Amino acid sequence: MLTSSKRIFLIGFMGAGKSSVGASLSSMLNCDFIDSDREVELNEAATINEIVKNNSWSFFRVKESEWLTGLSQDKPFVCATGGGLPCYNDNMNKMLALGTVIYLECSPQLLFDRLTKEREWRPSIADLKDSELLDYIKDTLGKRNLFYNLAQVKVNGDNSIENVCLEILRSVESN
Ligand code: S3P
Repeated sequence: MLTSSKRIFLIGFMGAGKSSVGASLSSMLNCDFIDSDREVELNEAATINEIVKNNSWSFFRVKESEWLTGLSQDKPFVCATGGGLPCYNDNMNKMLALGTVIYLECSPQLLFDRLTKEREWRPSIADLKDSELLDYIKDTLGKRNLFYNLAQVKVNGDNSIENVCLEILRSVESN
């Protein structure tokens, strides 16, 4: 049986497939799966939409960082992180110190194709028109890549979920 002794963080833009890859990978590795967005929602007893509407984005970023700081380190896990999490406070350095950070790198066009269909429940892009969404992705990705590129491992997120998992397994086993 394949098991992991590692703490794996999946990072990348919204729509990169972190949650789907994370769920599959954690069952392949027989370890826990954690999703930072769901954890913050549970802690605040509200959806991200509600958290941002009732407070602010900076409040949400503080709650993400507080959750990461309190994350238990006693068991291996695969953690899907919110798209902005690595880019605020000292979150990227914290994750690099805690485990293996894997960047699911996707092309802007693939992210656009996925995100056009799931815009309503994503507060940071809900109000953007199609014509604005691709520019938002390119601009934001350009800024966020400064953080994302610090990951120890990069995989091609444009591939299928299965192939992304296999690529991660290969790199995790060889480390
Ligand atoms: C965000 C991405 C979302 C969520 C929040 C903000 C972002 O997570 O944390 O809506 O700033 O890119 P996913 O990347 O899991 O969708």
